[in-house]
Amino acid sequence: MAIVTFSSPLMHKDKAVYAIAGDTKTILALAEENRIPIPFECRDGNCGSCLIEVSYDAPERKKAIMLTDKEKLTLTQLGKLTAQEIEDAEVRDMPPRYRLACQFIARDEDVTITFTGNPGGAD
Ligand code: FES
Repeated sequence: MAIVTFSSPLMHKDKAVYAIAGDTKTILALAEENRIPIPFECRDGNCGSCLIEVSYDAPERKKAIMLTDKEKLTLTQLGKLTAQEIEDAEVRDMPPRYRLACQFIARDEDVTITFTGNPGGAD
């Protein structure tokens, strides 16, 4: 069971929700289920609207989660992912700061998801 905390200027206060272990729901699907207004358009990793910043509440427990090819391409085009970060994620299990909510699946780590509410904005 992972606790996913959403934080945004659009929300009166942070909201923590549970993600069930083994669930393959994306953060975007989890947000929608809980009426958390992360912007989105394509739901397919192409548009970058659903940009989020992810921080791990217990960094030592974080796990390698593969970036999808679409996510790599879109985040790179947005200037939110460097070649170094791709290498760190793939070789050193260090997750990048920014992800796409429609591609990112929280497994059993607790994370805080930050978004601005502006499509493609995360800080
Ligand atoms: S909704 Fe388009 S990239 Fe996520």
